[in-house]
Amino acid sequence: MTNNDLPPGADEPHAPRRADFGADFLWGCATSSYQIEGAGAVDGRVESIWDRFAATPGSIRDGSSGHVACDHYHRWPEDLDIGRDLGLNAYRFSIAWPRIFDGTSGRPNEKGLDFYSRLVDGMLERGLQPWATLYHWDLPQWLQDRGGWAARSTVDAFLEFADAMTRRLGDRVSHWITHNEPWCTAILGNYEGWHAPGLKDFGTALQVAHHVLLSHGKAVPLIRAIVPDAKVGIALSLHPLRSASADPRDVAAMERHDGMRYRWFLDPLYGRGYPATTLAQVGEAAPVVLPGDMDAIAAPTDFLGVNYYFPETVADAPGHGPLGTRVLPAQGETTSLGWPVAPQGLAELLARVDRDYRPGPLYVTENGACYDDVVGTDGAVRDTARRRYLMRHLAALRQAVADGVPVKGYFAWSLLDNFEWAEGYLRRFGLVHVDYATQQRRLKDSAKWYRAFLGRN
Ligand code: NOJ
Repeated sequence: MTNNDLPPGADEPHAPRRADFGADFLWGCATSSYQIEGAGAVDGRVESIWDRFAATPGSIRDGSSGHVACDHYHRWPEDLDIGRDLGLNAYRFSIAWPRIFDGTSGRPNEKGLDFYSRLVDGMLERGLQPWATLYHWDLPQWLQDRGGWAARSTVDAFLEFADAMTRRLGDRVSHWITHNEPWCTAILGNYEGWHAPGLKDFGTALQVAHHVLLSHGKAVPLIRAIVPDAKVGIALSLHPLRSASADPRDVAAMERHDGMRYRWFLDPLYGRGYPATTLAQVGEAAPVVLPGDMDAIAAPTDFLGVNYYFPETVADAPGHGPLGTRVLPAQGETTSLGWPVAPQGLAELLARVDRDYRPGPLYVTENGACYDDVVGTDGAVRDTARRRYLMRHLAALRQAVADGVPVKGYFAWSLLDNFEWAEGYLRRFGLVHVDYATQQRRLKDSAKWYRAFLGRN
C-alpha cells in the first residue's frame, strides 16, 4: 500500500473533517478570467494588458498567452459540473473587463454580459454560490493606453464596469470582490515589471496602488446601492513575515517590508491612512492623494479575503529595492515554484489580521500549491504532495476556527490548471489536471481528497 492508497487523512494524526468547520462554512475553488477562459478574440472581447504583455518576447517563460488557456469560455458547463461533483458550495471567478467595455462605444457589450449571466446561472443550478471578482489583472489595453491604473480616470472607468456588472448580475450574485491582490497589480506590474503592463517605476506603482484602493472604496457604496443583500470585500495577498536573524538590522528590514506588503494596504482600508513610517521611507515615490480619498478607501466592507501561499523571510539589504530589503530563498520543504510549505502560517496570518484590524468575517479566497504533475499510464494524477498540502492547510484553518478567528470559508486555488502569468503553462496549481493539447480534464488525487473531505464519494 502506498501512501496514496490510504483513506483521506489516515496518514495525518489530526486530519481535518468538514464537520469541524460548521454547516455554514463555504467550500470553494477559485479561478480567474484571463487564466482559464481563452476565447481571446470571441464575442467582442478586446485586448487586455496581459495579451499585450504576453506578446512581448521574454515576458512569459514558455512564450505562451491566455489566448486559448483552458477554453473555459466554451467548456464552462463541464467545469462547473466538476465543481458540483466535488461537492463545492461556492465558486470564485473573475470577470474579464475587456469582454465588457471596448473603449469605443461606452456601452457594455451584451455578449460579454450574457456570458457571465449564463455562467452565474450555471453556478446557481449546480448549488455553487457565485463569488465574483471584478478585477483580477486583465485591464483592457485601451485603458492602459490612457495611463492605466496610474491615471485617476481609470478609477471612473472601473466604477462604470462595476456598475454594468452589478446591474446585470446583482439579482443573482451577492458576493463581490472588488480587486484581487492589489499589491501584485501595483508592484509586480509597475515596479518589478514581471507582470503586465511590465513597468519598472516605484512611484508609478504606488500611484497605481492608490488608485486601485480608491476604486475599491468608491465601488463599495455603488455595489451596495445596486445589489440587494450585497456583501462586498477585497482579496489581499498576505504573508506572515520572519526576520532572517535576530540582528536588529534584519528585524528592522522585516518591519519596513511589512509596512509595504501588509500595512500599506490594510491600514488605509481600515481607516488609518498610509502608515506614516512607510510613507516617510518611500519619500518622493509617495502617491498623489486628493482630499477625501482616504475616507473613500476606508468604506466599511462586509468581509476580507485573504490569499495565503507562504511566509516570507526578510533580510536587511542596503540599496536593494526601494526599502533596502530582500526576501530570502526558502529553506526546508517547498513546492515546485520554490515556495515554502508552511500550513501554520495560515492560522498565524488570519489571527494577526483579525487582531490588527477586526475586519469582520474572513475568507481564505486563495490557497494552493504548484507541483510538477504527471499523468500516469492509468490516467491518474498522483499529486500526493498537493493533497497533503491541502489537508495540512485545512488542519491549520480548523485551528484558526477553534481559536475563535472569524473565518467563514475557503477557496482552493485553483479548480483547474491554468495560465500561471509570467510562468505560462509550466506551472500547475489545479486540483484538476488540464491537458492543453486535448483540453481533457482529469481529477487529480488532491481533487478526490477534497471531494471525500466534502463528503462526496
Ligand atoms: C495569486 C493570484 O491571484 C493567482 O492569479 C495566481 O495564479 C496564484 N496566486 C498562484 O500564483
